[in-house]
Amino acid sequence: MSTDSKDRVVIFDTTLRDGEQSPGATMTHDEKLEIAGLLDEMGVDIIEAGFPIASEGDFNAVTEIAKNAKNSVICGLSRANFKDIDRCWEAVQHAKRPRIHTFIGTSPLHRAIPNLTQDEMAERIHDTVTHARNLCDNVQWSPMDATRTEWDYLKRVVEIAIKAGASTINIPDTVGYTAPVESADLIRNLIAEVPGADEVVFATHCHNDLGMATANSLAAVAGGARQIECTINGLGERAGNTALEEVVMAMKVRGDIMPYHTGIDTTKIMHLSRRVSTVSGFQVQPNKAIVGKNAFAHESGIHQDGMLKNAETFEIMRPEDVGLTETNIVMGKHSGRAALRSKLKDLGYELADNQLNDVFVRFKELADRKKEVYDEDLLALVTAGEDAANDRLVITSLRVACGTGGPADAELVMTIDGEEKTATQSGDGPVDATFKAVRELYPNNAHLSLYQVHAVTEGTDAQATVSVRLEEDGNIATGQSADTDTVVASAKAYVNALNRLLVRRDKVGQDRREISYKDVS
Ligand code: KIV
Ligand code: ZN
Repeated sequence: MSTDSKDRVVIFDTTLRDGEQSPGATMTHDEKLEIAGLLDEMGVDIIEAGFPIASEGDFNAVTEIAKNAKNSVICGLSRANFKDIDRCWEAVQHAKRPRIHTFIGTSPLHRAIPNLTQDEMAERIHDTVTHARNLCDNVQWSPMDATRTEWDYLKRVVEIAIKAGASTINIPDTVGYTAPVESADLIRNLIAEVPGADEVVFATHCHNDLGMATANSLAAVAGGARQIECTINGLGERAGNTALEEVVMAMKVRGDIMPYHTGIDTTKIMHLSRRVSTVSGFQVQPNKAIVGKNAFAHESGIHQDGMLKNAETFEIMRPEDVGLTETNIVMGKHSGRAALRSKLKDLGYELADNQLNDVFVRFKELADRKKEVYDEDLLALVTAGEDAANDRLVITSLRVACGTGGPADAELVMTIDGEEKTATQSGDGPVDATFKAVRELYPNNAHLSLYQVHAVTEGTDAQATVSVRLEEDGNIATGQSADTDTVVASAKAYVNALNRLLVRRDKVGQDRREISYKDVS
């Protein structure tokens, strides 16, 4: 892909591939389609939609995303073998602008796994890139673990990939090992010394193990890279990938020293961040740059005073630049449907009439229990009701007795595949009793690997959002829910996770995690 001009940086989003690889972040088919649509609308140049050979689910998602994409290039990942590349092409070929991304680990540690000599690996790179190029005229090649590969060997294989027809060369810092000075030097050196380097786009793909992914990506751009690979909220394995919102806003705010621009509509950042957080079940830390709850909050008196006099005293970008609307108290029990529709539109949600009716009913219930309904409450309401129509397990009612002097008791009524069932259980606290009751009604061996409670706003009547992650036979599902009653939110989040696990059991025939990235044959 050619860049518009020297200072245009191409944004390659891999939330749906590298981000989704994060254990527990698995998204459903519909969620992937929705996120891809939002990325496309936001102006992301290339969407890496998945790893088609990994599972039927990935293949179908990449295929559908490719069919629906309007402007973005749709890319799929494949290892360095013909079978992977063919499967990838089968999925991405439906896009107006398809791309095949093929990779192989080139560092000594990664070469040792398939037990290939330097020459054998070079031959494999030539053959697989040529094969991909015969199928698709837009091919990206990555030497995985590039930053721990001997520079001489790296130059040799980059040259081979360029000669075989790759038009983008991505340099991954797979384990987040590099540092800004080295990141810039490496790209500069490759561009200066590899024959044909001026004919291709160099990309940077950084992981955040040492907290330097954003700095390393921007340094790579200073060194000559013109494609940044990143994810929304920095989602990704271990410490995650470079956060899209950070690199995009850094180049926008500091255009004086980083004279580059992207095609991203930054006002869509907050909505995407919230959607990715909800569907992945990965909460954004409050102090996260750009999209954290506190990123634009000014608590201290000095800051507040300065902000009132001139917002630029403590703000280097405006909240509205990233799509944050004012978080005033705007809704209460007298607010009507039209006001709710308009408020939700400001928050990035355009709901169909039936969805709006459903949210309106739940909004009224909340407004009866909670005097002040904030934007965050509304967001929790909208996202908590999702997928309810397809759920096999639905909570009908829950009563809990707890306190000092004895175990807690929970009486739970649930509808399971249309049949109403009741269970009573005691436990070590109300949440334990409730989860036991769910397990009595729907016996399962899923392991509870995460249970997290967050207050949406302040005050004792605040809603709590609860995240629950369940693991069963290699499948992982995260559920979320919100309620002013923490135990009710916990029960709903647990059941939400179970429903997702059931979808996964049915749909994902082949678990993608059985496919090793190191397996090139
Ligand atoms: O981090 C990495 O090396 C990757 C490759 C598959 C590009 O994600
Ligand atoms: Zn990666």
